[in-house]
Amino acid sequence: MANLKTKVLLTGGAGYIGSHTAKLLTKHGYEVIIIDSLFPSQSKKFYGNFYKLDLAEEEKVLEVLRKEKPEIVLHFAAFISVPESIEKPFLYYENNVGNTIKLLSAMKKVGIKNFIFSSSAAVYGIPDIIPVPETAELKPINPYGETKVMVEKILRDMARVKEINYVSLRYFNVAGADPEGELGPTYKQPTHLIIRALKVAKGEIPYLEIYGTDYPTPDGTCIRDYIHVMDLAEAHILAMEYLLSKRENLVLNCGYGRGFSVREVVSTVKKVTGVDFKVIETSRRPGDPPILIADNTKIKEILKWRPKYNSLEDIIKDTWQWELKQNEN
Ligand code: UFG
Repeated sequence: MANLKTKVLLTGGAGYIGSHTAKLLTKHGYEVIIIDSLFPSQSKKFYGNFYKLDLAEEEKVLEVLRKEKPEIVLHFAAFISVPESIEKPFLYYENNVGNTIKLLSAMKKVGIKNFIFSSSAAVYGIPDIIPVPETAELKPINPYGETKVMVEKILRDMARVKEINYVSLRYFNVAGADPEGELGPTYKQPTHLIIRALKVAKGEIPYLEIYGTDYPTPDGTCIRDYIHVMDLAEAHILAMEYLLSKRENLVLNCGYGRGFSVREVVSTVKKVTGVDFKVIETSRRPGDPPILIADNTKIKEILKWRPKYNSLEDIIKDTWQWELKQNEN
């Protein structure tokens, strides 16, 4: 167990997953420092000491690290859209890989060795085994997934010569919002299924498109492992405490080990909101694997992670409450 008041620096700490983790860290008594460019998403509420910075500004990042001397860095800041990564690959390599290298270089200069990396199930591409274990082959099918594999390789090689201690958390489909209603997804142009469906239910978007109904799944639509953002925030804290006490490197899937199809999500959104919105079936979206479900044996065994919000209905309810609140402002 790490000491209370351990200083933790979060890049992207004002973003969706970062802001929820910052809140939970604060509740656990940690001292939180945030570096965030506030692009493209932002929370109106920050937990921690905030620096508005882009990771491309290497010298300024170095200054913050020198001044704050955090014991560990949680690296959330990244671009996250699969379709955008296909359209603008260089932007993704430059930000997700290039700026991570700059961050690691600044950490080396200051002597900070502990690192938690926000990786993704996108590293697996179309997995041969479902649920997919961490040992599966890494064969991403889009540039976004490639960037995550590249950073994981850098970390693995640095760790081999003790230049870093790290935990890489491979997120599956992160969804939901702070059950206390303070935080939630803040994307300006959301591409994710649950948020888009809720915006359709709210009348902000005219209809929901289902991208592909001819996948090799029981109802023909893609299956995903949706994980509540608060359970993911908890996984970060457990990973951090493990790393700080054991200094052992880990790669862990973060998912519940069960999946829902796009049609199942749509019907649950209709049930939760009570709105029977318009749905149009269209062609496949490039870069979508048919099924992604986590084998979460490892994170449960090693970190003793016990999800508290494992219900699709609750995930959707929390996000719906958050969405409705955005209208009031
Ligand atoms: N979908 C629709 N209509 C929409 C939005 C999404 O049918 O309006 C479908 C997608 O085609 C996909 C499923 O809903 O089959 C889930 O899509 P999301 O965009 O919500 O999430 P992704 O599975 O594409 O993305 C997630 C993570 C990424 C990660 C990726 C791995 O958010 O970080 O899984 O494939 F890279």
